[in-house]
Amino acid sequence: MIAERGLLFFPVRVSMQRMQRETSFDLPGDQIKDRRLNGSHLGGKTAVITGGGSGIGRAIALRFAESAAVVHIVDLDRSQAEAVALEITSQGGEAHAHQCDVSNHDQVKQVFAKLLEQSRVDILVNNAGISHIGTLDSTPETDFDRIFRVNVKGAYNCMFSVIGPMKEQENGVILNMASIAATCGLPDRFAYSMSKGAIVAMTFSVAKDYLPFKVRCNCISPARVHTPFVDGFLRRNYPGREQEMFERLSQAQPIGRMAEPAEVASLALFLCSDEASFITGVDYSLDGGFVNLRG
Ligand SMILES: NC(=O)c1ccc[n+]([C@@H]2O[C@H](COP(=O)([O-])OP(=O)(O)OC[C@H]3O[C@@H](n4cnc5c(N)ncnc54)[C@H](O)[C@@H]3O)[C@@H](O)[C@H]2O)c1
Repeated sequence: MIAERGLLFFPVRVSMQRMQRETSFDLPGDQIKDRRLNGSHLGGKTAVITGGGSGIGRAIALRFAESAAVVHIVDLDRSQAEAVALEITSQGGEAHAHQCDVSNHDQVKQVFAKLLEQSRVDILVNNAGISHIGTLDSTPETDFDRIFRVNVKGAYNCMFSVIGPMKEQENGVILNMASIAATCGLPDRFAYSMSKGAIVAMTFSVAKDYLPFKVRCNCISPARVHTPFVDGFLRRNYPGREQEMFERLSQAQPIGRMAEPAEVASLALFLCSDEASFITGVDYSLDGGFVNLRG
């Protein structure tokens, strides 16, 4: 059941299911039950995942919920965010959907303020992002600004909104979604690479500055992951040649295929769990050998 509360805040909540989760193993959703029996990585933690309505973010939201986190999905696309939240609650997890444009500073502050009124935030995953094709001379200012606003300023806006409370609680994990484009020199990715390079730099900066407050900050740099992001990219840029380009992009990874979103979610889960308590200020390639094995 989806209940709308206010313009930007519409939690999807099944409180009985949370009670059941805490008191009984007899729940629907075998995966959730099995994970709990095997030891939940994120039990008692609240995680905010931007861009959680699709692709990698959706996989992370589902995986975190399976691991007993309370999940908040922050996404521009309200119906996708609600759909993922419902997917989680229908399996016995707890999830809330928030419509929000991460590039809009005021909107992000408003959404996080409402969220923080109700709960602490233990984990922030800055995953929302958009793609772009172009070299320096084929990237107009409007495109540059749009990529910068969503991919760079969006991550800043969200981190800015949670860092105060994380400092106060002297605990927190921030995970940013970068890309191999940040460090690898891919063709035709001028603005996109710039934005992901900024994500890596922000990750190191935040990791350093908030060490005394026990806030860990890392990023993941995937190579190609098969998500709607990739399908949309192929449709827009290679109409009629989607399959050919899909094969070519798959072969660009030495492992011979694209990653699955769930494979990124596995690393995200580890990095956001207490099992990674000694890990901060690291950019993790998840790339099927792209960085080291191309020779
Ligand atoms: N798919 C890949 O091959 C790949 C590789 C490396 C890095 N990444 C990065 O992973 C992240 C997720 O990519 P994906 O492939 O899952 O993409 P996707 O397009 O499937 O999902 C992105 C989500 O972000 C949301 N979003 C977009 N703009 C937003 C905004 N302004 N405010 C709030 N939400 C917004 C979308 O609505 C969508 O739900 C991105 O940051 C992307 O750059 C993807």
